Amino acid sequence: MQYEQQIEALLAQMTLAEKIGQMRQLHGTGENQKNLVREGNLGSVLNVIDAEAHEIQRLAVEESRLGIPLLIGRDVIHGFRTIFPIPLGQAASFNPDLVREAARVAAREASGAGINWTFAPMIDIARDPRWGRIAESCGEDAYLASLMGVAMVEGFQGDDLTAPEAIAACAKHYVGYGASENGRDYNTAWIPEVLLRDVYLAPFQAAAEAGAATFMSAFNDLNGVPTSGNEFTLRQILKGEWAYAGMVVSDWASITEMIAHGYAADARDAALKGVTAGVDMEMASTSYAEYLAELVESGAISHDLIDDAVRRVLRIKFRLGLFNQPYANAAAAETLVAPDHLALARQIAKESCVLLSNKETLPLKQQTKVAIVGPLADHAADQLGCWVFDGKPEDSQTPLQAIRGLLGNEQVVFAQGLAEARSTDDGLFDEAVAAAQTADVVLAFLGEDAGLSGEAHSRAFIDLPGAQLALVDALVATGKPVVAVVMAGRSLVLGELQDKVQAILYAWHPGTMAGPAIADLLFGLDNPSGRLPISFPRTVGQVPVYYNRKNTGRPPSEDAPSIPTGTPLDPSGFTSSYLDVDHRPLFAFGYGLSYTTFDYRNIRLSSPKIGFDQTLSISATITNTGNYAGAEVVQLYIRDLVGSMTRPIKELKGFQRIALEPGQSQEVTFELRSADLSFHNNAMQKIAEPGEFHVWVAPNSLGGLQASFELGA
Ligand code: NOJ
Repeated sequence: MQYEQQIEALLAQMTLAEKIGQMRQLHGTGENQKNLVREGNLGSVLNVIDAEAHEIQRLAVEESRLGIPLLIGRDVIHGFRTIFPIPLGQAASFNPDLVREAARVAAREASGAGINWTFAPMIDIARDPRWGRIAESCGEDAYLASLMGVAMVEGFQGDDLTAPEAIAACAKHYVGYGASENGRDYNTAWIPEVLLRDVYLAPFQAAAEAGAATFMSAFNDLNGVPTSGNEFTLRQILKGEWAYAGMVVSDWASITEMIAHGYAADARDAALKGVTAGVDMEMASTSYAEYLAELVESGAISHDLIDDAVRRVLRIKFRLGLFNQPYANAAAAETLVAPDHLALARQIAKESCVLLSNKETLPLKQQTKVAIVGPLADHAADQLGCWVFDGKPEDSQTPLQAIRGLLGNEQVVFAQGLAEARSTDDGLFDEAVAAAQTADVVLAFLGEDAGLSGEAHSRAFIDLPGAQLALVDALVATGKPVVAVVMAGRSLVLGELQDKVQAILYAWHPGTMAGPAIADLLFGLDNPSGRLPISFPRTVGQVPVYYNRKNTGRPPSEDAPSIPTGTPLDPSGFTSSYLDVDHRPLFAFGYGLSYTTFDYRNIRLSSPKIGFDQTLSISATITNTGNYAGAEVVQLYIRDLVGSMTRPIKELKGFQRIALEPGQSQEVTFELRSADLSFHNNAMQKIAEPGEFHVWVAPNSLGGLQASFELGA
């Protein structure tokens, strides 16, 4: 590889203390950090920007013995200063090109502040909306999350990591963090190895193959072994099977947290287990600094193990070109919230919004007189979402501002109705009702404040918080049509809301440009085209509910009647269902409406049978049969009917976003390789098995056109 000689030359000059220094990352730039940097005993800092970042980098480069530059890391998760939708929202765009561009812009803006490394993408598969970090994820599906994760890696890193606006990516949290039991953050995950490999590891393997510079080990224990001390996932799979040459950083203190896990006796033991497993750099805690030297000297770990870790750290620094240009990309500092960045934020926010229901109400005419209500109508900070260090509320354009701008002040009356999302105080209801009475349509901006999702922000109730449904009742009682725009960091339970209102537009937390994006959609300047990256449960009692489940030996009816939640039903046979709620989600994975309608016709396969190492073409004709131009996300699903392991009832294998004018048709063709049909069997071989498959070209994970083919020799 390109830098190996330089790495070896540098390594040869380093003392053991300097090597261990490269394996340390500390938060901030206090005197302690500065001294460590001068002594060559610190490889990385996190959470410093601008002048502070410059100064600590200068100390490393100019005042340390070997002048090794620092990795300067930060959580640039869904934008730096220009904030894009939360990653779950970005995934709903089903548009990896836009997601790549958003990561590129985030990298550009961050590079201007002296950051050379982001702790993103977060590609944990998340199937439990109670888990607050589902907001940071790309949802429930391994295929979608892989594409989105790769797009983010490509966006952050570009083709050439030495380019001034490129920063190193970090695939996190490796691995299984999203499977934390009962949605409680940091909780234990138990994942059988086949599921681990087919679902949870898949996006990480894709990120590694895409060249993600770094990985982050997670907080959770997986099958009894903390992931920051897990030789199986780190040493055997990542660095062994995948031959990953990048670097692994721990999560914040996740090395020493192995003591609380009951896996390490003390900090010395934690350091031993972390480094042996393959964590190359310790974030925040200091067990490596305190014990690695002694562990080497006592023979408990080898010099080679240290050298391997240090090589990986240095490799990133070379790949980033830091030895030539360690400082901020000054030109990028001028681009913060630049017009083209905001335009991109508006576009991706638009494409991430999912129209969940619409009783012939949307789009609204621009002549409509609207009452704008709700705690999220004009909340510049909450619309940004949960992972925002550097985004500024003052850059936000709120829905109230944007709709006033579009319609003019006289057509808009505003009454918040609830002081904040969690408020249970109905003191402002009367004012909101009075506002509604003067309008043609009520636009209710509901959902979660930014603090209800994200790290350590799990919920056991995933309804609209506070008195929001009561506010909706009061508004509906006016007899005016009510349109709900929901901003949230997860899928919420929405059945009651759906019954009450005329339409629901699900906007996630859309970021800086929430207002203009939502206004464009509500008033028909653009057409909603987002699709759900997670299934929406009818009740929290269905969780986890995801589309690619198994059929079971007693499958529930796929066209079961919709039973209102909590209503006891006479037993409908001994099937895998509920007595008191439809087994299906309220809104399925891949679902989303448009102002127009799309017709799917004429599914065609290139052959009824393919052999191993062959490719099948699947085509269908999609027609825009409505009155609006719109984009459709055409989805390809398969089912392997009989396997040596039971197979999911549906598996997403492709999608294409196409734009169609009214009346326009397009033939969409997918290529399915036999390798795309493979899965892990119990012997951990990844194989495609002969036999019959169903294939669907579909608007979502439920319906669509179906055909069959055979895989065989
Ligand atoms: C802990 C979080 O789990 C991780 O996602 C983040 O990157 C680090 N803290 C650094 O802030």
